[in-house]
Amino acid sequence: MAWTKQIPANPVVAVAGATGAVGREFLEVLHDLDFPAAEVKALASARSAGKKLPFKGCGQVPAGELVVEEMTPASFEGVDIALFSAGAGVSKEMREAVVAAGAVMIDNSSAFRMEEDVPLVVPEVNPEDVKWHSGVIANPNCSTIQMVVALKPLYDITPIKRVVVSTYQAASGAGAAAMDELYTQTKEFLEGKDLNIDAFAHQIAFNVIPHIDVFMDDDSTKEEWKMVVETKKIMHDDDLAVSATCVRVPVLRCHGESLNVEFEGAITPGQARVALEDAPGVVVMDDTDNKLYPMPGLLAGTNETFVGRLRKDPSVENGLALWVVADQIRKGAALNAVQIAQLLLP
Ligand SMILES: NC(=O)c1ccc[n+]([C@@H]2O[C@H](COP(=O)([O-])OP(=O)(O)OC[C@H]3O[C@@H](n4cnc5c(N)ncnc54)[C@H](OP(=O)(O)O)[C@@H]3O)[C@@H](O)[C@H]2O)c1
Repeated sequence: MAWTKQIPANPVVAVAGATGAVGREFLEVLHDLDFPAAEVKALASARSAGKKLPFKGCGQVPAGELVVEEMTPASFEGVDIALFSAGAGVSKEMREAVVAAGAVMIDNSSAFRMEEDVPLVVPEVNPEDVKWHSGVIANPNCSTIQMVVALKPLYDITPIKRVVVSTYQAASGAGAAAMDELYTQTKEFLEGKDLNIDAFAHQIAFNVIPHIDVFMDDDSTKEEWKMVVETKKIMHDDDLAVSATCVRVPVLRCHGESLNVEFEGAITPGQARVALEDAPGVVVMDDTDNKLYPMPGLLAGTNETFVGRLRKDPSVENGLALWVVADQIRKGAALNAVQIAQLLLP
């Protein structure tokens, strides 16, 4: 059923999963964008109830500390926008309570992304899709977001037939505990100690792991599947073929992606560069003479999607190759979700 309630100019915002990697970033982004909130509620599990989180303030909420409350179905009474990053299970559990309270859920998990009545939105690509939500809007997978931000300006020149993407995904993509594991394992490795392996299937220190999320029947991973189906949904093109290989690398923050893109019509690297330079949310960082290209280790905390190594891919008739980096906790999660929330404001 289409949603008719208008979000007020100064909404009450709940951050569900506020103590996590994405949740903490939500608080940063709400401040950075000066989101006009009347109130911000920090919600997490019972383990965190009573914890205090520093908050720099936004809208009508002064800087100070937010006291974390245990998330229950009753937490959403009076809430207008619920920013969710507490995992798919929690999102599913809370959906009914959130919608019944009249709040719009903007969900970072994979719980609802492919449901027909749930828009999957990247504001630079398909902002118009927020209009048809019925209480839930999904934030795409982090790897998909930065890819489509870079692809959209190129698609607008000539449609894309096929993309081959290999990702280089940061440890923090698996949450705060996974980021800590990269630190501690690196230290253990350097000290010659036994490695504690918990967050990933194998050691992540001094290693790369071609395995993110679970394996599917066709031997691809669910992360790879997400990139395939989410890209088609966001770009409104079921014929857009995507072949993905997703790899975890020992980087703290920011995913890198190598893209080989095949287009229907002719497109030169020069045309692509101009389109990318003009595109919202994109920064072209591409000057090989000066060894300039985007690198994950140097871009943590940024908002834009960075594109470099732009060149012709001579292996197909109309091909380009490019390298894309974005901070997946910001543009791949918290920032994208708050930008969606901005689209809901009157
Ligand atoms: N990390 C990324 O780059 C990224 C990017 C895009 C999307 N996402 C998605 O965002 C979600 C969160 O990821 P994350 O990386 O922020 O994970 P995280 O660092 O592990 O944080 C998880 C958060 O969920 C809360 N939580 C867990 N179980 C709960 C429960 N039963 N009830 C209430 N709260 C509960 C935790 O609270 P406690 O501290 O109290 O346990 C914590 O605040 C996941 O769905 C993930 O797929 C993550």
